[in-house]
Amino acid sequence: MNESIASIQTDALERIANAADERALEDARVGVLGKKGTLTLAQAGIKDVPKEEKAAFGQSLNAARAAITSALEEKQAALQEVADRKALDGVDVTLPGRPVLTGALHPLTQIRDEAIGILRRMGFALADGPEIEDEFHCFDALNTPADHPARNEKDTFYFDSGKLLRTHTSSVQVRTMESQAPPLRIIAPGSAYRRDEIDATHLSVFNQLEGLYVAEDVSLPDLKGTLEYFLRELFGTTTEVRFRPHFFPFTEPSFEIDVKLQVKGQAPRWIEVAGCGMVDPAVFSAVNAARKDNAFDPEKVTGFAFGMGLDRLAMIRWGIKDIRLLIENDVRFLKQFA
Ligand code: PHE
Repeated sequence: MNESIASIQTDALERIANAADERALEDARVGVLGKKGTLTLAQAGIKDVPKEEKAAFGQSLNAARAAITSALEEKQAALQEVADRKALDGVDVTLPGRPVLTGALHPLTQIRDEAIGILRRMGFALADGPEIEDEFHCFDALNTPADHPARNEKDTFYFDSGKLLRTHTSSVQVRTMESQAPPLRIIAPGSAYRRDEIDATHLSVFNQLEGLYVAEDVSLPDLKGTLEYFLRELFGTTTEVRFRPHFFPFTEPSFEIDVKLQVKGQAPRWIEVAGCGMVDPAVFSAVNAARKDNAFDPEKVTGFAFGMGLDRLAMIRWGIKDIRLLIENDVRFLKQFA
């Protein structure tokens, strides 16, 4: 190797070896390989080298550059390792990590989604309606006379405009029949409002899931089969279900549905979960009048409707004793459903 290049290389390797930090290493690099670096200047001197020595000189240059470059890289890596070690000083990397808290769906959301899932598999489509309703959709079209207790100011939140907070999701039955023709099969989950005295089983806002099936030849056995299947999907295939005659202005005949269940920590008993019945022809007539046609001809179509309390279903499922827990957002309570 050319002597002057050999000594440049020796100097360079020494500076690199002695560099105590990245800054010193960078200075060393610039001092050798920079614009005015020792090796760069030596390379520029090649023009003065006698022709027959040029090749050997060039090889020496390349060899020196390669050695210096790899020494720079090694030193860089070594300095980095020292820096990494220093950064971890006093940190115990063997300590367990801090778990990241994940959120979870509210129990009401869980039971609602489960109910929707079962009913959608049975062919019910989702429908929706406003929570601020008018008396026509909430009562009149549902065959509910003006003197019915549900329409009482004492039981219902009225606005000065005459509108009201819907007392049940049955108003969505009317709205759906106004905008769609039979056959139709819908469910409508949503909030409902009543001026109830608040206690462990009553809130002034609660959640219902409405269902409506209208077509030719829909019969009472269809209603029974549908709801029995639904409740057994939700609570277990051996769940006993019973239909108790009841009264609703908008269905005839009407029933309340009970399931025999064992709520955690209690003896098995019949628990009411829903109201239902065959759509009263008077409802079809009111809808037809609003639509100004005869799409829901009471001579041709029949239907069933049901409405259940989602809060009630959640309370039964998880043995929740106080409905207020469902709206208080107490993390100690909600955590149990994560
Ligand atoms: N809307 C009724 C209630 O809130 C429930 C119901 C819905 C009954 C549909 C029959 C048919 O109590």
